[in-house]
Amino acid sequence: MGRSWGVVAVMVLCASGLLGIVRGHGSMEDPISRVYRCRLENPERPTSPACQAAVALSGTQAFYDWNEVNIPNAAGRHRELIPDGQLCSAGRFKFRGLDLARSDWIATPLPSGASSFPFRYIATAAHLGFFEFYVTREGYQPTVPLKWADLEELPFINVTNPPLVSGSYQITGTTPSGKSGSHLIYVIWQRTDSPEAFYSCSDVYFTDALSLHSTT
Ligand SMILES: *[C@@H]1O[C@H](CO)[C@@H](O)[C@H](O)[C@H]1NC(C)=O
Repeated sequence: MGRSWGVVAVMVLCASGLLGIVRGHGSMEDPISRVYRCRLENPERPTSPACQAAVALSGTQAFYDWNEVNIPNAAGRHRELIPDGQLCSAGRFKFRGLDLARSDWIATPLPSGASSFPFRYIATAAHLGFFEFYVTREGYQPTVPLKWADLEELPFINVTNPPLVSGSYQITGTTPSGKSGSHLIYVIWQRTDSPEAFYSCSDVYFTDALSLHSTT
């Protein structure tokens, strides 16, 4: 009897350890990611047509789990593990609504070439790791499924262990220069205390940094 209780205890510990790995941990907050925007819109009654379509395809649960667009064993192998056309879902069937190639995902205005821009990444658990921010190349079309080759080769920001303030990582950096119109920012949060990584797609609309400054 004592021995079988021991086995049960070990199994429970293993199961909770595994749950610890797959539990959700964060997403882009500003500029807001698709998944977090649809979560804030309310998965039961999303207001934007793109979130309505995403919920219709994926169901509501994906959006309550907005902070777990992850791959537990990624270890930097993002391009190997995530197929073209599935970048926003990280290849997770549950999140497939995020991959919808539509022009009406609500985009956040972002000045192009602005220094010291305060990006924010909301985290429901803190981890050691680095954040790579990629932007789409010129010619990006939101109506065409997103491929790895649509992203610029190098991240425009790569920050390790940024400060966490009130539940959000504060990532200060220069926004991509020479950009205008619709683009997408793809953020990969690769943990260094675990092979797990998190992925997010933020729709943005680049404005001219100077004109934005002169109106504020
Ligand atoms: C980003 O920084 C991390 C930590 O220094 C590094 O391991 C990684 O290779 C960098 N990413 C790129 C694309 O250079």
